[in-house]
Amino acid sequence: MGGKKGGNECQSSLYQKTASWQYQQGINFVKQLALTDADRCLDFGCGTGDITAYMASLAGEVVGLDPDERRLQVARLCHPEVTFVQGRDADVPEGPFSVVFSNYVIQWVTDHDILLVLKRLYQVLKPGGRLALQTTERLPDTIVAATALLPPSDRDAIHADFYWRDADTLRTLGEAVGFETLSLSRKDGMHAYDTLENFFVWWEATTHGVFAVDHIGDEQLQRFAAEWVQADGSVQVVEPNFALVLSKPGGEKGA
Ligand SMILES: C[S@@+](CC[C@H](N)C(=O)[O-])C[C@H]1O[C@@H](n2cnc3c(N)ncnc32)[C@H](O)[C@@H]1O
Repeated sequence: MGGKKGGNECQSSLYQKTASWQYQQGINFVKQLALTDADRCLDFGCGTGDITAYMASLAGEVVGLDPDERRLQVARLCHPEVTFVQGRDADVPEGPFSVVFSNYVIQWVTDHDILLVLKRLYQVLKPGGRLALQTTERLPDTIVAATALLPPSDRDAIHADFYWRDADTLRTLGEAVGFETLSLSRKDGMHAYDTLENFFVWWEATTHGVFAVDHIGDEQLQRFAAEWVQADGSVQVVEPNFALVLSKPGGEKGA
């Protein structure tokens, strides 16, 4: 990975600290893509850019796109060697790219926009280019149970943000815009938090503060702890993950 700057500021990013399981999943997926310096890649929904930087260490060129300016500030500080662009959905920079990569993002794209986004990603890929999507099919049970502790308006606001699709639905949507399926794998991913407090900190960061523990009564918190906290005090989250690689017909490059 390229040289890091910003020292403590990079380390102290709450999102960075708490997203390490997702980072590992992303790194493993990037490795499967066998990038070379002939690749020009887009990281769609790059967040704080750590995976983007890893891709940049393998590929000829990588651009990270994300709508969240605060995350992009961290990305630019920590990875000054990488190009980051602010935007969402179909605000994709001009291609051609050989690989569009996206790790735990596509569930944020609304049902209204998903076809538009897939069409745009198809358009910016060169023939033979690959669209590599990894995410979760639905909210894990632990998170559904924690979110259910909130008052209805907070709870509904969290659920309203997500557009869950299973792997087959996403593959079918991709094929509808012209992609061919190269590979699809499903594997549960588990991440654990050493304390209930750290689990809540992670979920609060992920929901941009909509999940707020001080909106939950003590009795409910105790009931949740009794059901979900392990004997060693940790909380486990099991994600029904999938990794889907689609390709734009034509060109030379395979899976
Ligand atoms: C769970 S984070 C994943 C970040 C990064 N891909 C990783 O694996 O570390 C989801 C990211 O998607 C971005 N995002 C949300 N909605 C988006 C959209 N409609 N288009 C592109 N990115 C979006 C968020 O700002 C956030 O940084």
